[in-house]
Amino acid sequence: MGDTCRIELDGTPFEFPVIEGTENERAIDISKLRSETGYITLDGGYGNTGSCTSAITFIDGDQGILRYRGIPIEELAEKSSFIETAWLVIFGKLPTQADRDRFATMLTEHSMLDENMKKHFDGYPTNAHPMAILSAMINTLSAHDPEVWEADDDESIERAAAVLMSKVRTIAAAAYKSSVGEPIVYPRYDLRYAENFLHMMFSKPYKDYEPTPAVAKALNLFLLLHADHEQNCSTSTVRMVASSEANMFASCSAGVCALWGPLHGGANVAVIEMLQQIHDGGISVDEYVKKVKNKEDGVKLMGFGHRVYRNFDPRSKILKAAADDMLKELDIHDPLLEIAGELAEAALSDDYFVSRKLYPNVDFYSGIILRAMGIPVNMFTVMFAIGRMPGWIANWKEIHDDPKGRIYRPRQIYVGPTDQHWVPREER
Ligand code: SDX
Repeated sequence: MGDTCRIELDGTPFEFPVIEGTENERAIDISKLRSETGYITLDGGYGNTGSCTSAITFIDGDQGILRYRGIPIEELAEKSSFIETAWLVIFGKLPTQADRDRFATMLTEHSMLDENMKKHFDGYPTNAHPMAILSAMINTLSAHDPEVWEADDDESIERAAAVLMSKVRTIAAAAYKSSVGEPIVYPRYDLRYAENFLHMMFSKPYKDYEPTPAVAKALNLFLLLHADHEQNCSTSTVRMVASSEANMFASCSAGVCALWGPLHGGANVAVIEMLQQIHDGGISVDEYVKKVKNKEDGVKLMGFGHRVYRNFDPRSKILKAAADDMLKELDIHDPLLEIAGELAEAALSDDYFVSRKLYPNVDFYSGIILRAMGIPVNMFTVMFAIGRMPGWIANWKEIHDDPKGRIYRPRQIYVGPTDQHWVPREER
């Protein structure tokens, strides 16, 4: 018998099992709490609640550790690619050359949209937010490819994953092209994943866009670093939807909606807006930091802080180095990067942030890299979604493959009015 946790409720002792993960994380298994005690737990924001056991990603927030299927993010960033890492995250092991070739071929074969899908873009206003288009069109994809609804074994799941990962690029680029009044660009058969996306974003009928190796490398790295991140808001949303046995596309479409918020994936936009506001307003970094500390109008230091990391987000360190390298290679002088550096320096030496364990997160530098690539700000969170797709697919698969899986259905403590009755309108 493993460890147990003993609690006393209304004078009655109860025992619950303690479980331990492979990284020595410990949890009290309260799956029988309500049936045995009549009590439930309450944990606003789920800061202390595990919704599942998972074998995909491990984060140690105190040590600033991030591993995909046990492999440190630093090693993958240095030695792997987004597509290889995506396959690792989804299927739990590094792909063989045969796996790699098969998946890469599927990504290329599935990069085009059904011509009828393109008609949907004509219906959106040019100022439609690309995240609204992305979530809608991911669901629409499954209407054009009903085979993905039946994805069940590894082979059919791999195909559905390739369809989704490949077409999400084409949808994103098509949303951008529609917003700038340019014709949607077809994917090319000879280009790799990141390069094909950049081609669809920036090529024109009269001139092909050829990304420099530095830009393609930076985009590959950006996507790899975003591939998964444990039970964050959008991934938990995907699992919630997947637990009802909804298909992969419907579940990931829900993930896009959750990611949109400025506290989550929308933070990379909010960081640039914050840096631009400081730059355009001629506000000194010290003045801005003071606003944040005074919590003026809820002003936050966007790109800082994290529910899990109480240390540097390892991804922000890698992205900062990549941003420095890319700007140097492209000979781009971005004043916002300088402001970002000054802000980080000011915050990291200020007890207000240090005492609250607020450090730069993945979003703090990612906007700088995306800007340098020429990606428009309203596409930043879309880029995050493209990178996070493997993680959402992996979590959908983990739910799908669990024979003991149950639909997610949290409880609540009711605090509303009691014992009310209907009254006729004239008496209200
Ligand atoms: C992502 O979960 C994931 O893994 C997400 C993600 C992923 O890969 O999926 O890592 C991606 O979403 C990164 C986070 C991006 N968001 C931002 O950069 C927005 C700014 N950050 C904050 O909104 C905040 O830090 C959160 C939302 C990230 C975390 O919020 P928590 O854990 O609920 O923290 P909290 O609100 O309880 O804050 C604790 C204290 C408070 O001050 P006091 O009440 O103690 O005085 O810290 C303060 C907060 O006011 N605080 C900040 C702050 N973040 C927290 N103060 C200023 N600036 C900030 N950014």
